[in-house]
Amino acid sequence: MKENIIAHNYQISRKDRITAHKHNSFLIWFTGLSGSGKSTIANLVEQKLFELGLKTYSLDGDNIRKGINSDLTFAPEDRTENIRRIAEVSNLMLDAGLIVLAAFVSPYKKDRENIRTIVKDVNFVEVYINTSVEECERRDVKGLYKKARAGEIKNMTGISAPYEAPENPDIEIKTENETIEDSVTRIVEFITPKLQLNHE
Ligand code: ADX
Repeated sequence: MKENIIAHNYQISRKDRITAHKHNSFLIWFTGLSGSGKSTIANLVEQKLFELGLKTYSLDGDNIRKGINSDLTFAPEDRTENIRRIAEVSNLMLDAGLIVLAAFVSPYKKDRENIRTIVKDVNFVEVYINTSVEECERRDVKGLYKKARAGEIKNMTGISAPYEAPENPDIEIKTENETIEDSVTRIVEFITPKLQLNHE
C-alpha cells in the first residue's frame, strides 16, 4: 500500500511559518525517571518562552497516554511505539513552526536516537532530568513506586524496568543539587541562540 502513497507538497512551508513567527522551531525533549521533575521543569520553561511571545506547545507522557496513545502499555515495544508516535507528532508541530516541549520517560537509548532521526539532529535538544531513583521513590508524588514495590505495577522504570541514561545530553539537570529556578534559567539560556532565524 505504501508505494501508492505520494506526498503532496503544500505551498506554505516551515520556512514561511517560522518567518511569520519570527523564531526557529525545535524540539526540547525531557527524559528521566517518573517523578524526576520533567513535567514541572518543562511547564516552567514553556511559561518563560510563552511570556516572551514565542509559539510553543507541550506534550506530556501522562496526558498523551490518556488520548492518542491510550492503546499502549509500558512493555518495551509499546514504549518504543509511544516515543515513535510522539516524535512524528512533534515533527508535524516543528513544521507548524512551534517550539515543542516533550516530557516522556523515554528510557531506551535507541528510541531517543530514533527521535533525533525523525526530527533531524539540528532540531533536537535533549534535556536529561537526572534525579536518582532513590529520590524519585522518596518523593513518590503519584504513589507509583509504592505500588511497584508492592508488585501492583509491572515494568516500573527504575524498579522493574531499565532506564538507559543519556551519555551526551545537551543539558543535564541534577534536581537534587540545583534549584528549579536555576534549572529553568539554564535551559532558557541554552536555547536562546537557537531561536535565531539564521541559526540553520
Ligand atoms: S515512556 O516510558 O513510554 O516514555 P511515558 O512518559 O509515556 O513513558 O509515561 C510515563 C508516565 O506513566 C509516568 O510519569 C507515570 O506517571 C506513568 N506510569 C505508569 N506506569 C508506569 C511504568 N510502569 N513505568 C513508568 N511510568 C509509568
